Amino acid sequence: MLKVGILGGGQLGRMLLQSAANYPVETFVLENDENCPSAHLCHHFTKGDIRSFDDVYRFGKGLDAIAIEIESVNEQALEKLEAEGVAIYPRPAALRTIKNKIAQKEYYRERNIPSPDFVITRNLDEVKQYSVFLPAVHKLAEGGYDGRGVQVIRSENELSRAFAAPSVLEKMVDIHKEIAQIVAVDQRGGIVMYPPVEMVFDQELNLLDYQLSPAGITDDIKARVENIALDAVKGLRSAGVFAVELFLDREQRIYVNEMAPRVHNSGHHTIEGNYSSQFDMLWRIILGYPLGNPSGILPAALVNLLGEPGQEGDADYQGLPEALQRSNVFIHLYGKRQTKPGRKMGHVTILGKDKETLVHDAHALKQIIKIRAKK
Ligand SMILES: Nc1ncnc2c1ncn2[C@@H]1O[C@H](COP(=O)(O)OP(=O)(O)O)[C@@H](O)[C@H]1O
Ligand SMILES: [Mg+2]
Repeated sequence: MLKVGILGGGQLGRMLLQSAANYPVETFVLENDENCPSAHLCHHFTKGDIRSFDDVYRFGKGLDAIAIEIESVNEQALEKLEAEGVAIYPRPAALRTIKNKIAQKEYYRERNIPSPDFVITRNLDEVKQYSVFLPAVHKLAEGGYDGRGVQVIRSENELSRAFAAPSVLEKMVDIHKEIAQIVAVDQRGGIVMYPPVEMVFDQELNLLDYQLSPAGITDDIKARVENIALDAVKGLRSAGVFAVELFLDREQRIYVNEMAPRVHNSGHHTIEGNYSSQFDMLWRIILGYPLGNPSGILPAALVNLLGEPGQEGDADYQGLPEALQRSNVFIHLYGKRQTKPGRKMGHVTILGKDKETLVHDAHALKQIIKIRAKK
């Protein structure tokens, strides 16, 4: 049996492991927290720091392959392991390009992949010099995650929000739709693409509200999205599962926002909604099996279950019986003991033929399921 390690033990690792149970593979997880979502689903858990050279190298030595569930891993250790024959998904060179937003933006520029115009800023003085560039979005080159490394700067009096560390200052796009495209590449370079999805944001909270698959876009836009995403992923020359986030603006221009070289939140609906889920797909790639069928079985909506505002402590999941009465609803809890405001605690996938019902159900489920702290 192939021995495969996962760096990081969060929900992505957990869903990968749920899928791994169907295949002949022995699984290993490296993560600092022994109560993480993945700890109890792998064959072998190692407590350690995914950012430490020694921890990653020691973990990876003797494994056949390694996958990541987060970009902030020690890529020097992965390079050494790769040189010693461990297969890494994604290739460390691809990870290096994506991990740092400056390198990622330069990659788009070099390959002529449409992406919002940008300048690089190393400190606050440099941000101030680019005030003609506003309105813009300031993005930390490294270490940002789930919106925490992103600041909108509309005008000079918002400059105090800027990051003092190396960052990208990117022109604000007048977004009509946010789209995500998942691309799977096998070891021989064979490629399949999932139907693009549409992410709908809550304007007030600036949070993902829900997500729809397939995206409500014309065939022409879909073809352009697919071509751009394909080009962006191909240039990385790596097998694996990749998520490309794109913007469609009000003039129907398409831009790549960012990429992730791994399974992604925008593909969670594929567990029930598509023939081969993004997690199943990654195992097929790692284990050298044929690529799966990415087509949708039914349209899907996806709602992230976030910790309620003002609630912190042992998680109490409310409304599950009511949600489970619905025949088209699939619940995924990530097994995190502690809830915090806005923490991703799980997700719900809703299947249905018609988009209006999906949107309606997505809103309803957000009201039905609440994650609060135990009293
Ligand atoms: N250039 C931009 N113009 C307008 N909105 C943007 C721009 N860049 C990012 N955003 C908004 O901020 C969100 C988060 O930015 P993103 O670069 O995807 O960071 P994260 O790593 O947090 O996902 C995007 O989904 C989008 O809504
Ligand atoms: Mg993003």
